[in-house]
Amino acid sequence: MQKYFKIYTYGCQMNEHESEKLAALLSEKGYIKTDEDDICSVIVFNTCCIRENAEQRALGNIGALKKLKEKNPDLIIAVGGCMTQQEGKTDVFKKSYPFVDIVFGTHNLEGFGVLLDKKLQTKKKIFEIDDEPKPYFDMIRPLRNSYPNAWINVMQGCNNFCTYCIVPYVRGRERSRSIDNIVAEARLAVMTGYKEITLLGQNVNSYGNDLAENVGFANLLKELNSVKGEYRLRFMSSHPKDLTEDLLYAMKENEHCCHQIHLPVQAGSDRVLKLMNRKYNRSDFLKKVDLIKKIIPDCAVSTDIMVGFPTETEKDFLDTLDLVKTVGFSSAFTFVYSRRKGTVADRMEGQIPEEIKKDRITRLVDLQNDISRKKALGYVGKTINILCEDYSEKRGYLGRDEYGFMAYFKSDKNEIGEFKKVSIQKTEGVSLMGELIK
Ligand code: 5AD
Ligand code: SF4
Repeated sequence: MQKYFKIYTYGCQMNEHESEKLAALLSEKGYIKTDEDDICSVIVFNTCCIRENAEQRALGNIGALKKLKEKNPDLIIAVGGCMTQQEGKTDVFKKSYPFVDIVFGTHNLEGFGVLLDKKLQTKKKIFEIDDEPKPYFDMIRPLRNSYPNAWINVMQGCNNFCTYCIVPYVRGRERSRSIDNIVAEARLAVMTGYKEITLLGQNVNSYGNDLAENVGFANLLKELNSVKGEYRLRFMSSHPKDLTEDLLYAMKENEHCCHQIHLPVQAGSDRVLKLMNRKYNRSDFLKKVDLIKKIIPDCAVSTDIMVGFPTETEKDFLDTLDLVKTVGFSSAFTFVYSRRKGTVADRMEGQIPEEIKKDRITRLVDLQNDISRKKALGYVGKTINILCEDYSEKRGYLGRDEYGFMAYFKSDKNEIGEFKKVSIQKTEGVSLMGELIK
């Protein structure tokens, strides 16, 4: 009889990719991937705790499976990812979610197959949450789910301890993967038909600090030059404090590297940046943007921004809006600050009321939309190169140019994974609408 599995994923690209690894471990055991809960033998929740709403969504979805478990007691429900690694979360699952069979931490993902075997043999519940990471090999071949893009992890963890952020607590200190290992995975991805590689790490700019001397992210980009073929290379995220000239030159000299950099700024006020422990101020950030433009003049800069950090005043917020205008980001992920237990910011006085946060996020989103829309309008009449990555009945094929702008076009053929030239006719919001050039 066929056995099926489903994985629910919450959070960032890192989690999306880790779900691809979990999927590989399950498929190694003969399970087949499905989107339907009802036919599953195993359902895994790969959770995130970076903001409260991600956590609430996961808990809601887990709770909703109680009925299915009552109908099918053989169903195995597993919960892993960042949420399980938080202090006190094991008790929450023991008390409030007794129908969950396996709870595993961020440092136990690679051993998930063994935990599943143990559960099947003993029928007993498993709680496996290690405090310390194991040496970082990353030898699992992921069951990829994002063609034509291949995610490749270059490092785990974070040493920065931004005061609002839970990541260093739930993912541990930085561990870098060996260059050889990364290059081999990239070579295999390109050989097997992937057209875009995205290198992942919480802070890729500090890649290699824990390895031998002279092994840095710039070096990694140089080594990746040996991977030949038709593909694009991207990476995320970069901490502004660690962005070096060396890296920008390595980017420029790697012919596959897209001229796009994701550089989370978080806030535009010096006072707030200091409280956030970001280790740069507004002027340092603007200098980094100038450096990028000096070395790679056409480089698009995207960012992450947060509103409502404790004590943020209207004046601080206006500084953020002003910085957004000054830089003119190609796009921005915008967030409302969310209190995370155990972080320094959670213990700060001056938490901002929800209505003020709501008002600020709306104004920020409106401003960035305006900027992105204007940038999109600048594309009208131009011909661009896009990598086609998705299709919908209504809008046709969707692709991105190297700067990350999205363009739609119609075609009779299957264009997924193809590089195409598209002439841009008009815009719809921040999206470009184009025609295929034969
Ligand atoms: N609240 C809101 N946003 C957060 N981020 C990290 N921690 C929090 C938090 N507590 C955002 C940051 C980071 C992105 C991945 O998530 O902007 O760059
Ligand atoms: Fe969190 Fe800051 Fe590390 Fe990013 S750099 S993961 S925001 S602590």
